[in-house]
Amino acid sequence: MHLGILEAARWAPSAFNGQPWRFIVGKRGDQVFQQILSSLVPFNQSWAKSASALFLVLAKTTKNDGSIHADYQFDCGLAVGQLVVETHHRGLVAHQMTGFDKAIAQSALSISSELVPVVVIAIGTQDAPEKLTGPLLEREMAKRERLALSEIVLQGLPV
Ligand SMILES: Cc1cc2nc3c(=O)[nH]c(=O)nc-3n(C[C@H](O)[C@H](O)[C@H](O)COP(=O)(O)O)c2cc1C
Repeated sequence: MHLGILEAARWAPSAFNGQPWRFIVGKRGDQVFQQILSSLVPFNQSWAKSASALFLVLAKTTKNDGSIHADYQFDCGLAVGQLVVETHHRGLVAHQMTGFDKAIAQSALSISSELVPVVVIAIGTQDAPEKLTGPLLEREMAKRERLALSEIVLQGLPV
């Protein structure tokens, strides 16, 4: 496991430096990996079981003074964004999933009620797409698409 991947997330900026992100790391073959895997919807389980690691990202939704961390989803997204870029920089791949049952994750991993599950990330090495079949193969081979800049920059698009 590359600690640098988690370091990249740790150094993310956050509102008032609140750092609401927490991580649970499962490595394939260990119990934590199985517990995170058990919370995924069946489609995600079908491919994520082959990952080298599964990270469960949790958020602390209240600050130490008891007030609400209003921006916790945004902060966690930013930390995960940095983690994903660092993962790819190291020649691995990271795939985020919100297709999981938060209650199952909470109970399987005995997570305290002050933490909210946000996302699961599968991390591993890229394998050959030809090993896949059906919808998984179709998805892997599909053209990657995004909205054009002209559709998302509503005003002031540089020419
Ligand atoms: C917050 C979030 C949740 C996602 N959840 C899932 C998921 O549950 N299962 C899955 O296979 N992919 C999931 N994805 C991956 C997206 O489907 C994928 O990024 C999108 O289709 C674009 O594909 P591309 O990044 O390969 O271009 C998720 C991505 C994000 C950012």
